[in-house]
Amino acid sequence: MKLSFGSDNHSGIHPQILESIKQASSNFAPAYGDDAYTQEVEQLFKTEFGPNASVFFVFNGTGANVLCLKALTQSYHSIICADSSHIQLDECGAPERFTGCKLIDIPTPDGKLTPDMVKTELYGFGDQHHAQPKVISISQSTEFGTVYTPQEIAALAELAHQHHMYLHVDGSRLANAAAFSGVSFKGLITDTGVDALSFGGTKNGMLLGEAVVFLRPELAENFRFIRKQAMQLFSKSRFIAAQYIAYFHEQLWKQTASHANMMAAYMASRLKEVSEVTITHKVESNAIFATLPRNLCDKLLEKHLFYIWDEDICQVRLMCSFSTTKEDIDIFISDLKSLI
Ligand SMILES: Cc1ncc(COP(=O)(O)O)c(C=O)c1O
Repeated sequence: MKLSFGSDNHSGIHPQILESIKQASSNFAPAYGDDAYTQEVEQLFKTEFGPNASVFFVFNGTGANVLCLKALTQSYHSIICADSSHIQLDECGAPERFTGCKLIDIPTPDGKLTPDMVKTELYGFGDQHHAQPKVISISQSTEFGTVYTPQEIAALAELAHQHHMYLHVDGSRLANAAAFSGVSFKGLITDTGVDALSFGGTKNGMLLGEAVVFLRPELAENFRFIRKQAMQLFSKSRFIAAQYIAYFHEQLWKQTASHANMMAAYMASRLKEVSEVTITHKVESNAIFATLPRNLCDKLLEKHLFYIWDEDICQVRLMCSFSTTKEDIDIFISDLKSLI
């Protein structure tokens, strides 16, 4: 395949993670999470997120998001999110289908919700005609590659809790956010008051297997049943666990995410050499959003794989991953320049 800046999902599996899967394959082990690998990872998540954290593996990010939301809600609730969020745009209505809840999506300039934006939707509590607001869901990093500060997350958690609501984080790219901000997972999630987290690894070097993390024990009580009913319980759990063991070992997640972020920063700096290209969002993680003339974009697409995000303004998304190299970027920039 030609080089791809289409998605961090286009990358392969990190060799250390692949090796860890291989090692877990050398023996028999009990299924459905009763194995030593899964138990070790349960402890690792407590080390990363604090003693009250409980973790449940699922197959993918959509599964993690939908089941987190399912665990937090009843069908008469509503979930407030950004209009650019994955739960709103890219999950084929699965959150609505499985939770029965109304999604209330709010436009944002950069993918980030603020308390003032959310407050406009906080009404109708106790009114039997109105879907009851129950969850604020944010993405860290956001779908536009921007990163919330711990203070921004804490303000949203406080607002949620004032209204007996929960704060959910889609952390499909939490590693990139943590690497950018230099704040630990605990500092970004547990200490800010987040209630439930979808923790991703697939985009940062894993094969598959995201994690649902509850930061309050009572939220986890019936989750095993919810997961099984939703067909997200993997029998050979140890192969997800083995990946997380490698992922947390000597902070592999941080090396891979920092590399992806650094590559995006380098790519952004090189794109600035081209006056036809305008970077439209702050480059804070591993995504770059930029506009360019349509004919130039079409010609570049013949040589490289990336996606147009907004057809109207010809805004493209360029993603870097743990396996993107400077040389890949230099080839892209030189092809871009040669087309002008
Ligand atoms: C912000 C975000 N959340 C969640 C996901 C998870 O999606 P999937 O169900 O494809 O693993 C993605 C994948 O693109 C994403 O970008």
